[in-house]
Amino acid sequence: MPKIKKINFALLGLGKLGTGIYELWQQKRDAIHKETGWDLHLKKILVKNIKFRRSSVIDKSLLTSRLDDILEDDSIKIAIDAIGGIEPTFSIIKKLINNKINIISANRTLLASKMHELIKLANTNKTYIMPEPSLGGGVPIISTLQRDLVANKIKSLTGILSGTSNYILSEMSDKKCSLKEVLQQRNLQKMSESLSIIDYEGSDAAQKVSILAASSFSVYVNYLHIHAEGISQITPIDIHHAEKFGYEFKLLAIIKEHEKLFEIRVHPSMVRKGHPLTLVRGEYNAFFMETDLLGNYMLYGKGVGIEATSSLVLRDIISLSNLIYNTKRRIDYSINSKNKPIMTMDDIKSSYYVRFTCEDKPGVIGQITSIFGDFNINISSAHAEIDEEFGPENAGYVHIFIDHAREKDVMLALDKIQQLTIMQNKIKYFRIFP
Ligand SMILES: NC(=O)c1ccc[n+]([C@@H]2O[C@H](COP(=O)([O-])OP(=O)(O)OC[C@H]3O[C@@H](n4cnc5c(N)ncnc54)[C@H](OP(=O)(O)O)[C@@H]3O)[C@@H](O)[C@H]2O)c1
Repeated sequence: MPKIKKINFALLGLGKLGTGIYELWQQKRDAIHKETGWDLHLKKILVKNIKFRRSSVIDKSLLTSRLDDILEDDSIKIAIDAIGGIEPTFSIIKKLINNKINIISANRTLLASKMHELIKLANTNKTYIMPEPSLGGGVPIISTLQRDLVANKIKSLTGILSGTSNYILSEMSDKKCSLKEVLQQRNLQKMSESLSIIDYEGSDAAQKVSILAASSFSVYVNYLHIHAEGISQITPIDIHHAEKFGYEFKLLAIIKEHEKLFEIRVHPSMVRKGHPLTLVRGEYNAFFMETDLLGNYMLYGKGVGIEATSSLVLRDIISLSNLIYNTKRRIDYSINSKNKPIMTMDDIKSSYYVRFTCEDKPGVIGQITSIFGDFNINISSAHAEIDEEFGPENAGYVHIFIDHAREKDVMLALDKIQQLTIMQNKIKYFRIFP
């Protein structure tokens, strides 16, 4: 058995996540002790209101509402942020780092906007910040990129990062229902930490992908500057047509490193059935990577919930214990080592599916395709149909698939086509992955 060593840590926050971490730490403490030799010893729990009624399993003697109780205790080496939000958490974390306390954070709102400042402060104080639990799931993507794939060039990384959005899309497709109907499900309310529009309108995935960009690609971008679209634009009619052509909708976060620019974006995409990402159903997350040495590589696991997050929190306490006590020389985090500007959406290149609702008469496809031709846009296929089940009365659909085109050209062509008198409705389009 390995030699037993004790590491003291503090828990910041004892709400839904904090209580979950506490309970799982209690359950796993002995097993971790036997397996790794580390005795994970919780010394203090910071809360806002000490009088608040807590679960009976909590040792109340650990509770404090005074941050100084942690700052003044030299034996505490690690603090876990399970408070959430930007302030006062940002100020609390800065004080802890200035006191040489290493941070494990599950707080994606804070990291998605302040990662750069926190990493600089950690470098100055020779401490560590472990951001992986903030991605909200148990999939170890950051450590895989930093350690296991370190010899690889990651040509692209495409992630399903919002377990909530993925669950909603799976339900809409399996049960042929609308977003509104899924939002009313009890299951969803229970699954999501506090279901809000940010969970399915792209902000949640943008926050997570910005943390990933900073920690694994050394590109610091505030999540508010990332192009993010959510899934509320997807209707059962869109799902019906996508399925008919062999596609499934996924909310994807896409990272691609170009020579001079960094591409980062979040939006729903139509993914060809059979691609590994379409096998990711329900509240699961996945990261699909194109690498130079391993070819295509995918990580997959639970993307929502306290247990999944706690799995990484407990792992990080052990990793930090090893780093603090076993590594003589601390390696600094790289700050702006790449400093690449973010590619604008106008310049991205993608394939597209476009659906036009137009008058049912000869020549409509010709009118549409000739405008695409004016913009040098290559059409891979065009289909016209009268859809008696879902289609509008006295009108038909034209479905067009576009090959690898520049977004700006596609948008300009669509603006022009929308002006045609044959158009009866707003044009609907989706990007296609890959
Ligand atoms: N819930 C999840 O499933 C989950 C999963 C992954 C990540 N997260 C992240 O974890 C964080 C916390 O989420 P949560 O759902 O656990 O929130 P929560 O239930 O609202 O709990 C927040 C905790 O922080 C404490 N707190 C608030 N302000 C404080 C202050 N000024 N000083 C000290 N303590 C303070 C509160 O103390 P009192 O108890 O005294 O009010 C409470 O215990 C968020 O960043 C969230 O995104 C949550």
